Amino acid sequence: MKPASWCWLSSAVLAAFSLLVAGNNETEEIKDERARDACPVRLESRGKCEEGGECPYQVSLPPLTIQLPRQFSRIEEVFKEVQNLKEMVNALKKSCQDCKLQADDSRAPGRNGQLSPSPGSLEEADDNRVQELESEVNKLSSDLKNAKEEIDLLQGRLEKLNLLNMNNIESYVDSKVANLTSVVNSLDGKCSSKCPIQEEIQSRPVQHLIYKDCSDYHTIGKRSSEIYRVTPDPKNSSFEVFCDMETMGGGWTVLQARLDGSTNFTRMWRDYKVGFGNLRREFWLGNDKIHLLTKSKDMILRIDLEDFNGVKLYALYDQFYVANEFLRYRLHVGNYNGTAGDALHFSKHYNHDLKFFTTPDRDNDRYPSGNCGLYYSSGWWFDACLSANLNGKYYHQKYRGVRNGIFWGTWPGISEAQPYGYKSSFKEVKMMIRPKHFKP
Ligand SMILES: *[C@@H]1O[C@H](CO)[C@@H](O)[C@H](O)[C@H]1NC(C)=O
Ligand SMILES: *[C@@H]1O[C@H](CO)[C@@H](O)[C@H](O)[C@H]1NC(C)=O
Ligand SMILES: *[C@@H]1O[C@H](CO)[C@@H](O)[C@H](O)[C@H]1NC(C)=O
Ligand SMILES: *[C@@H]1O[C@H](CO)[C@@H](O)[C@H](O)[C@H]1NC(C)=O
Ligand SMILES: *[C@@H]1O[C@H](CO)[C@@H](O)[C@H](O)[C@H]1NC(C)=O
Repeated sequence: MKPASWCWLSSAVLAAFSLLVAGNNETEEIKDERARDACPVRLESRGKCEEGGECPYQVSLPPLTIQLPRQFSRIEEVFKEVQNLKEMVNALKKSCQDCKLQADDSRAPGRNGQLSPSPGSLEEADDNRVQELESEVNKLSSDLKNAKEEIDLLQGRLEKLNLLNMNNIESYVDSKVANLTSVVNSLDGKCSSKCPIQEEIQSRPVQHLIYKDCSDYHTIGKRSSEIYRVTPDPKNSSFEVFCDMETMGGGWTVLQARLDGSTNFTRMWRDYKVGFGNLRREFWLGNDKIHLLTKSKDMILRIDLEDFNGVKLYALYDQFYVANEFLRYRLHVGNYNGTAGDALHFSKHYNHDLKFFTTPDRDNDRYPSGNCGLYYSSGWWFDACLSANLNGKYYHQKYRGVRNGIFWGTWPGISEAQPYGYKSSFKEVKMMIRPKHFKP
């Protein structure tokens, strides 16, 4: 749709400039409203849409009519005036030359030094004639000077008018193009979100061509927890994910898993960006992929935790979105429900919602005098610094020292002082997402 609309827009711009050349009264009178009423914007289907792909739609937009500033017609008038003046000046120049020649002719005999009978009366008459001619020449040359000044003046006015109108017209065309672009964009949005043909396809899941996440595989009847290939954004690449088809009806795309400490989570920005680990064991799916997955649909987040005493609890968030790298993978998480407690919104001072991603080499946290990622050996949406950190070090038992292990601040008994300063550790952690409106 984009190329077609741009082509259309550029032809609109061309039309605007051809009007500019014509620039007469009639085009000025045609109002936009009239054109719009006569021929409203129409969106027509041209065959079936591929799910998530380009829709073969044709947009009919009303013809573009541009209203030119009224002064525009003045340019033509000024042109005519200038032309008239030029002709006048040429005529003056010519007559000037003629009279100069006459003057030379009358003086010629004297200059030739030929002695000829020259009666006083005749000489007098000649002198008068020369004086007459001289004053005529003076008059003509001053006229010429005036005319030249006038031409210069008009020329300046013409240039000013030209500039003025060009600027007006350019900004006018710009605003029209911006308006049309927004119309085209809104039509584009309608196509991908409310396209009736797409809805039809979604109710007939066998026709799925693109699987955006694990719920799409669940819909076509896949029931084994496995690795599948997903394409959350058809314009971007596809990648493999691990799907949990068992928990709470299944359809979950797993973002992170810890279960034995086989993968080192003390990693830099680049690793957290693209992902690392083993999808069947321990891994971080990657911030770019998490962004694409949470961008394509409204997602809910489920976090499962198990400690070494066999206690299993979960946290469910009805809203989960991770922004792109430019926005430093900012976390948006909300509407908690579950049994493990809302450690992501622990208190006013420890709140991971709306925090940026921080790694040991990229400090985006709210701790002013250091890097939480470096201190707690992981990448996470640190505040200053944490009430939860599921990417902390994997300890196989209780540990002492810096609390840099896997941590969930609302876990029963975790904040109470442990004998000898020991800290609790976790056996298993899993983070996974599923579309909010998915019904298993
Ligand atoms: C332009 O409009 C003016 C007044 O509205 C009119 O006098 C003039 O004849 C028109 N010129 C043309 C070229 O239609
Ligand atoms: C853009 O289009 C809207 C709706 O037709 C209109 O209200 C608005 O004035 C237009 N803006 C410009 C700059 O033409
Ligand atoms: C994990 O990686 C970090 C950084 O490369 C390294 O300093 C640390 O020793 C590693 N930990 C283990 C347990 O291998
Ligand atoms: C694909 O996604 C990545 C990560 O979000 C982004 O940097 C890139 O610009 C995207 N490419 C396209 C063509 O949308
Ligand atoms: C939490 O989830 C349970 C079970 O799905 C549900 O019954 C309850 O209404 C939910 N509570 C809130 C506040 O969403």
